[in-house]
Amino acid sequence: MKKLILSVFVIALAVASCGKKEKPAETPAPATEVATPAPAAPVAEVSAEEKAFLAVVDKIDPANKCTVCHHATNAGVGPTYTEVAKIYKEKSGNLVSFLKGNAKAIVLPERFSEMQANLEVTKKLSGDDLNAIANYIRSLDK
Ligand code: HEC
Repeated sequence: MKKLILSVFVIALAVASCGKKEKPAETPAPATEVATPAPAAPVAEVSAEEKAFLAVVDKIDPANKCTVCHHATNAGVGPTYTEVAKIYKEKSGNLVSFLKGNAKAIVLPERFSEMQANLEVTKKLSGDDLNAIANYIRSLDK
């Protein structure tokens, strides 16, 4: 009898630990993904570069927020960042220098007056923040 109880206990333990191993890997993730397919997709597309860029934009006043006028690929008030990335690569431009106010506009110089005020904000950003902006823009040129 003792042996039987013991072996039942051992089997129960084995089953319980087996279940433990498989549960975290399988159940939670698909359950939430299946329930919300639409928001799950765009979240997965946010790159590390974009996350770092958005963290910098978070610190900027609403009037100067880059994302109000620029989008990655959709047309906005300003040129798309994909276009900016392409032109900076073609012309070997330096994004950080431009954002520091040390280099001339090379994308749409004739409309620089619309961008100029934002440089007062970007000039005050740290080197790390400026690199985060530049890295993100460059990451869009593939
Ligand atoms: C009020 C709208 C507006 C906001 C806000 C804005 N931009 Fe712009 N941006 C423009 C326009 C318009 C141009 C095109 C003129 C030009 O090329 O300088 C431009 C151009 C640029 C360029 C290309 C410059 C070049 O060499 O011609 C970069 C890079 C840029 N913006 C980055 C930013 C960043 C980073 C921010 C946020 C700190 C920002 N912009 C905020 C409107 C805006």
